[in-house]
Amino acid sequence: MDKLLITGGKQLTGTLTVSGAKNAALPILAATLLSDKPVLIGNIPHLHDITTTLELLGCMGVELSVDEKLNIEVNSSTITKLEAPYELVRTMRSSILVLGPLLARFGQADVSLPGGCAIGARPVDIHLIGLEKMGADIKVENGYIHAKAKRLKGCSLILDQVTVTGTENLLMAATLAEGKTIIENAAREPEVSDLANFLNKMGAKISGIGTDVLEIEGVERLGVEDLHYNVLPDRIEAGTYLVAAAMTRGKIRLNKIQPKLLDAVLDKLSEAGAKITCGKDWIELDMHGKRPKAVSIRTAPFPAFPTDMQAQFTAMNSIAKGVSTITETVFENRFMHVQEMQRMGANIKLESNTAICTGVKNLTAAPVMATDLRASASLVLSGLAAEGETLVDRIYHIDRGYDHIEEKLSQLGATIRRIPR
Ligand code: EPZ
Repeated sequence: MDKLLITGGKQLTGTLTVSGAKNAALPILAATLLSDKPVLIGNIPHLHDITTTLELLGCMGVELSVDEKLNIEVNSSTITKLEAPYELVRTMRSSILVLGPLLARFGQADVSLPGGCAIGARPVDIHLIGLEKMGADIKVENGYIHAKAKRLKGCSLILDQVTVTGTENLLMAATLAEGKTIIENAAREPEVSDLANFLNKMGAKISGIGTDVLEIEGVERLGVEDLHYNVLPDRIEAGTYLVAAAMTRGKIRLNKIQPKLLDAVLDKLSEAGAKITCGKDWIELDMHGKRPKAVSIRTAPFPAFPTDMQAQFTAMNSIAKGVSTITETVFENRFMHVQEMQRMGANIKLESNTAICTGVKNLTAAPVMATDLRASASLVLSGLAAEGETLVDRIYHIDRGYDHIEEKLSQLGATIRRIPR
């Protein structure tokens, strides 16, 4: 397995362009299954999860082509298989996102149950209950979801819990259902809104975008000539590099990112002592060479502080001035990075779903192991701020969600290189 070797102590300075959002590209690629016309999708990040999604669409018989600007053309008029097999789904849970589109367009779908993962059980009960309420016949046997529906019927849904991919699956299903669907307690993440905007460009009739009540008037078909849609920028990638600069007391500018996508994160960075300046599509952070101050956070669905930034802020708090609490309310097991940071000298105590962090002046390098996507990013950040050489193992987790991380960090002056297995 590849490893990343990081020599800490360098202040990060410079400019980066933010890539497209993984968590918008994945549902949007799944949504192309709804269209009976080819669609061109741009600003797709180069990530392992994207490759896996293209592999999944390909094995269904979808025609894919990539142009010189790395836009991806998807043509799902040639589909032959309505199945997402276990060997693909087990490597990427978000394959569940093909369930709604397949059911809505073709009336059938056989999708492997996406097991749990390191951060939690990750059930999909809300997805299935919603589809059943829309008239689908769903059987779960031998680890597969077998779903059938002559034509889904619009209805009123109140989701028990805010779920991003649950909202996305039901939203996609509702676009071709008969009649009107209302989804209450819908997720408001920007990636959900980006999917809804894409669906409307394909001819869907969705209103309430960006709110927790989505209204969808079902239509007979979706697809328009010459649609070219660019995925929105990745707010979590942007937040990760801003924290890297804050931890190393540096100064960076991020281009191609709208500040409103990460207001809660920018507020917390300002509280930590960062000087933040923003334009329409750029963000600048300057620490003026100062050590960050400890900031307490509590994760919750958008627009509150995102769970996908929790590990990165735990890393920052581990070297910040003062004591802070980090409370994780979305996933039940998202503190696995803590024991790795403790091996680097972090003073963090875990009490149920809260980490109590007393900042130390310096972490010390140590060999550490990544366990999930954002935890692995937080270990790279810790390595950037630690004295000595940190070796991060199992970085395939990182490659799932960060586009060329070592190149981008090197561009900011970090000493980091990939050690192939
Ligand atoms: C999405 O996962 C993201 N993934 C996650 O990003 C992100 O952490 C998460 O939303 C929360 O923002 C993608 O968009 C591909 P949820 P998702 O359904 O949709 C419970 C990353 O790092 N729940 O919003 O799977 C669930 O257990 C990844 O990029 C049910 O109980 O998360 C959790 O406690 C990690 N039943 C809570 O809801 C359901 O049917 C929120 O999960 C669905 C969810």
